Amino acid sequence: MTKRIGILTGGGDAPGLNAVIRAVVLTAHNAFGWEVVGIRQGFDGLLNGMPVMKLTPNVAHDMLARGGTVLGAVNRGNPFMRRTRLEDGSEVLVDAAHEVITRLHELNLDALIAAGGDGTMAAAMRLVDLGARIVGVPKTIDNDLSATDITFGFDTALVTATEALDKLQTTAESHHRVMVLEVMGRDSGWIALTTGVAGGADAILIPELPFDIAVVCNKIRALQETGRRYSLVVVAEGAHPIDGEQEFIIKGDPMYQGRLGGIGYLVGNAIASCLDAEVRVTRLGHVQRGGQPTPRDRWLATRFGSAAVHFVAQERWGHMVALHGTQLIAVPMEEAVKIKRVNPDGEMVRMARHLGIVFG
Ligand code: F6P
Repeated sequence: MTKRIGILTGGGDAPGLNAVIRAVVLTAHNAFGWEVVGIRQGFDGLLNGMPVMKLTPNVAHDMLARGGTVLGAVNRGNPFMRRTRLEDGSEVLVDAAHEVITRLHELNLDALIAAGGDGTMAAAMRLVDLGARIVGVPKTIDNDLSATDITFGFDTALVTATEALDKLQTTAESHHRVMVLEVMGRDSGWIALTTGVAGGADAILIPELPFDIAVVCNKIRALQETGRRYSLVVVAEGAHPIDGEQEFIIKGDPMYQGRLGGIGYLVGNAIASCLDAEVRVTRLGHVQRGGQPTPRDRWLATRFGSAAVHFVAQERWGHMVALHGTQLIAVPMEEAVKIKRVNPDGEMVRMARHLGIVFG
């Protein structure tokens, strides 16, 4: 039977989202003869009566290598907490989930594929409880979803961050400087750990291991005594000192998650005051989310998108595509929203320590 399925991209974007959309469109069309429409701006696109985007194989064919998402994404779109302005000008949070369900019916959608991170999956799960037929696709550069071995976007972010560290290394060497690189990752240290190891950092600071800056200074001093005149420090945006808290650009509230950032500058200043060294800080920011996906991310995103269509055919509502080893499986969304963090006592951190890297 012909179906009409919708796809949306929720949360922050990640390189590979367009490859997912393309794989959904091509698989739906070629393997099942189904029609696909794109919902703009995540779940918000189902609330404001926004027109949908007809996604034919012709429209989708050149999306594979394109960064971002042609559908747009909203990092703060939550149908259960929609910001609404009252007549007196004040703002309240309104549960608009039933409007989403109504809109899905109006659009004659047999199913919805939602590509997103933990926030998108949490919203999708609750909509499934209200009767929506949704299959999830995991996305985040942070690689912090415990239900899947890896998420697309992570590899691209890792390449970008490692290239940045490689570049910082050459100028650090010329000027005999300590270079601090702050990377993304929210409350998980995956980007920092892998970038730090891949780029030869001397210290890596991650949220899972609160740090003592004296340990970092001692490490750099010891390197200086061996004749090494530069050092590289990678700091995850969510890292914090043993006796301190995470640094936010904007603190969170019930509606918005806080925006982490700035710990790199605190670390840089602290190193400058405990050592006789020039220190420079680079906050890499959204460069990590932009640009073309790597071939590995295109491959993973394509597999995820195609599998999601098959899970729609199997009516696996409330499930998300996940990679376990080499296999793609459907995991319940309640598993998908659990956060995956670096194990401070695990093999990866131990290996890094054996390379001489300190974690503060
Ligand atoms: O979750 C992906 C991510 O890039 C995090 O690493 C980062 O903390 C956050 O999104 C940034 O969000 P925004 O795009 O809203 O600044």
